[in-house]
Amino acid sequence: MLDNSLEALDRAHLVHPVVALRAHERRGVTVLESGKGCYLSDNQGNELLDGFAGLWCVNAGYGHKSVVAAAAEQMERLPYATGYFHYGSEPAIRLAAELAELAPRDLDHVFFTLGGSDAVDSVIRLVRYYWNAKGEPNKKHFIALEAGYHGSSSNGSGLTALPMFHDKFDVPMPWQHHIPSPNPYRHPAGPDGNAVIAASVQALRDKVAEVGPDKVAAFIMEPIQGSGGVIVPPDGFAKAMETTCRELGILFIVDEVITAFGRTGPMFACEHEGLNPDFMTIAKGLTSGYAPMGAVLMAKHIYDVIADAASDGVPLGHGLTYSGHPVSAAVGLEVLKLYRGGMIENSIKVGAYFEERLRFFRDHPLVGDIRSKGLLAAIELVSDKKTKAKFPSEKKLASKLSEAGYRNKLIFRAFPDGTLGFAPPICITETEIDLLIDRVDATLKVISEA
Ligand SMILES: Cc1ncc(COP(=O)(O)O)c(C=O)c1O
Repeated sequence: MLDNSLEALDRAHLVHPVVALRAHERRGVTVLESGKGCYLSDNQGNELLDGFAGLWCVNAGYGHKSVVAAAAEQMERLPYATGYFHYGSEPAIRLAAELAELAPRDLDHVFFTLGGSDAVDSVIRLVRYYWNAKGEPNKKHFIALEAGYHGSSSNGSGLTALPMFHDKFDVPMPWQHHIPSPNPYRHPAGPDGNAVIAASVQALRDKVAEVGPDKVAAFIMEPIQGSGGVIVPPDGFAKAMETTCRELGILFIVDEVITAFGRTGPMFACEHEGLNPDFMTIAKGLTSGYAPMGAVLMAKHIYDVIADAASDGVPLGHGLTYSGHPVSAAVGLEVLKLYRGGMIENSIKVGAYFEERLRFFRDHPLVGDIRSKGLLAAIELVSDKKTKAKFPSEKKLASKLSEAGYRNKLIFRAFPDGTLGFAPPICITETEIDLLIDRVDATLKVISEA
């Protein structure tokens, strides 16, 4: 008899992102069915607290009827409008204008993408175009941080610096370089934040000198390195990198795909240090995951160079069929209303409470490091607190952690090295944070006793 169960069909046909494919076939899929607020339900009747907001994207939480209504209304009126050939739609125009108003001061032009990877990829293309237009065609090299994640496009994956995105994919390419991650827990200059910053500034200078000062186009960084294990750099790190980029004559790109839209408290993480990047990438919280959308925000001085380079009427050869999709844009406008209508304040308040509650785990025998900025946090487990030794990979700690978490009705990100990552919806309450902490505690007990 044919097995037409979801599990069998999934095993036979669906290729999942970032899983060990054979291991997934053996394990089978977990089918999620519905969501409400900070909770998800699966098709086995389990209700789980979502401590990871989907994939750090459902910032507003699940089940907002106003967002569903905005999408349905836009779908009925005009489900698609191209942005090509001078066409446009009201939601895309209004969303671009709102983002320009909210974003750091010079960022006033917006190119919409479908997510974060194509936002980063678009930046790479636009940076190349910019330097060529400026008459500096040698400026082609990019520098990024080790442990950084900038998506998995064929170009962006080489700026990403996580081994599984490189292995057998033939990246990084010769124009893609990395300097050490500013991780105070593991940096040779750490844990002193000022020493980590000084070493990072020096590393950027050294890399530019090595590549050739006239050859480096840009430096890209996440304000907090999400997929690398929620690495929170010391305060002042990002500003120091921005200042160094200005001194070295290279563009400064901030990848806020995870950190934007209240994830760390304010609307953008750039606000913590008053950053004013040349480019910023966003996605995820832009639509709270209700529809696919990302964006590149660019500073006016960048836009002007790019626009003037084609002043003879030749179109700029960069486009996506779904750039500025009206349904996604309508969703974006509606979630912005939710963020501005109290969720940012909630994130600042409850984020501080979350950070305080995480300290509960400081003396736990397995906990090496606790890192957090608002509602973005990690607990790094180690086998020896003194030497900071990680658990050997044969222990399969990540799958044990996520299984134990699931049994305790909690979803979080279990990183391969045994770090637990948290990014709950920013509408979470203090009572739900208490529940999350209790469930982490129960999960760590399972691991300690194993
Ligand atoms: C900082 C950062 N940049 C880019 C991306 C890629 O975004 P997407 O998965 O939407 O392509 C991600 C995804 O997690 C990210 O965290």
